[in-house]
Amino acid sequence: MKTNEHDMILVLDFGAQYSQLIARRVRECGVYSQIVPFTIKADEIRKLNPKGLIFSGGPCSVPAEGSPRPDKDIFSLGLPILGICYGLQVMSQMLGGHVSSSGKKEYGLQNIDIIDSSSELLKAVSDKSRVWMSHGDSVDKIPEGFRVTATTPTCPFTAIEDSKRRFYGVQFHPEVVHSEEGEKMIQSFVLDICKANADWNMGSFVSDAVEAIREKVGNKRVLCGLSGGVDSSVAAVLIHKAIGDQLVCVFVNNGMLRKNEAESVLDLFGKHFNMNLQYADATDDFLSALKGVTEPEAKRKIIGRVFVDVFYKEARKCGDIAFLAQGTLYPDVIESRSPSGGPSSTIKSHHNVGGLPEDLKWELLEPLKELFKDEVRALGKELGLPDELVYRHPFPGPGLGVRCIGEVTKERLDTLREVDAIFIEEIRKAGLYGKIWQALADLLPVRSVGVQGDERTYREVCTLRAVTSEDAMTADWYHMPYDVLQRASTRICNEVSGVNRVLYDISSKPPATIEWE
Ligand code: XMP
Repeated sequence: MKTNEHDMILVLDFGAQYSQLIARRVRECGVYSQIVPFTIKADEIRKLNPKGLIFSGGPCSVPAEGSPRPDKDIFSLGLPILGICYGLQVMSQMLGGHVSSSGKKEYGLQNIDIIDSSSELLKAVSDKSRVWMSHGDSVDKIPEGFRVTATTPTCPFTAIEDSKRRFYGVQFHPEVVHSEEGEKMIQSFVLDICKANADWNMGSFVSDAVEAIREKVGNKRVLCGLSGGVDSSVAAVLIHKAIGDQLVCVFVNNGMLRKNEAESVLDLFGKHFNMNLQYADATDDFLSALKGVTEPEAKRKIIGRVFVDVFYKEARKCGDIAFLAQGTLYPDVIESRSPSGGPSSTIKSHHNVGGLPEDLKWELLEPLKELFKDEVRALGKELGLPDELVYRHPFPGPGLGVRCIGEVTKERLDTLREVDAIFIEEIRKAGLYGKIWQALADLLPVRSVGVQGDERTYREVCTLRAVTSEDAMTADWYHMPYDVLQRASTRICNEVSGVNRVLYDISSKPPATIEWE
């Protein structure tokens, strides 16, 4: 995305998993940041007119043949450069220093000794500050004009700089949260060394994104699948702001949504935002395909297949479409590919990043793909989406289908919808919703005996689960206050006729997953 009015820092991507994190840290300083491949030419950089450059880390080894090198003329642009890990090493090697592969790898936390307190980069950082190291190679000779500003017992050149040319390098990763004062270093580089103006915010993101979407789409039409979740909602509202009725949204009700979910999606996007919204209630298609199926993977596959059928059937009704909009976020693509086409390797593909049917030659429009979840939330607020949607817990694509353990039937889904609604309502009433990553209810394929008003009952068992997490990769069970559990349990047994027993799930991930299926 282009930005003409704001100062910018360019991040040269050497294939690091962390390039976007660097860009994000720069944005947190209030300065726009763009990631470009390391192959960018000095001339192109001059045209983009950034205030400074950051060389990312990367998986390659500087001494190895063919390892990535930036255009050497970049060093004559007169721009400040911060090299991180591989970025430090490649800069050192190209400016006359030397890098060796010692064979010894160093991972983990280290305390740095700041040996030169006049360093502009480290001036806000305390001595012994903890940093995150992850490298195999090391600089063993620094280039002329550089001096050492920080060391660790195992790494003599932890931070180096040539303050005259404004070239800085750190062996650790200031962009990751484990580096306690990493943010301060990036701030010093961006604001004090590069002297970038901190005038960029989510409002600027909106105007830049709107401009970029208009430029890309022209007078063509865009299709967006709305799920009711944060990402697709924010993407749709942003695109709608840019191109109005050239955007068509399709919302598929798979019959496995939460209580009142379909109504609120139709109300918000159809009525409030006045979007061109096509609604397909495909409950029967999904439920008939799921009849008799109990195996979790089989259920997921069927739900996925029916969704694709219904979605593309609806899409074909929308006429000429040139783009498919997706609310893909950076964490969705991080493990699938390197964002700028850099050399990082594919680790795994995410379940939300799917392929298109052969006959649909749509181009992808992914306006959120540089952003992290909390940035998307801030963007949603900026765009006027209600807090209830912006701060909504994650909800899986297959919906309550993977929470209705055993066979998925209309009756069981209705029961689960009620249980879930009560649980979430009690969490909200207790003011705990925002403290929890995700709260969910599952209906188990088990019945138990109970007694209600002198009568024996034989009904289904439900389980409640709430977890805390940073990124859903690992999770802890939430220590829910007993009184909240008690209120939820009492209400569920009294108000939901199909259930007479409530359990609370106290498993962490791993070994359990967040969802039961
Ligand atoms: P698990 O159960 O693997 O889930 O611990 C991790 C996170 O991913 C969500 N999830 C999904 N999200 N489509 C999605 O968009 C899916 O098919 C899907 N399956 C799981 C889950 O809710 C949790 O937040």
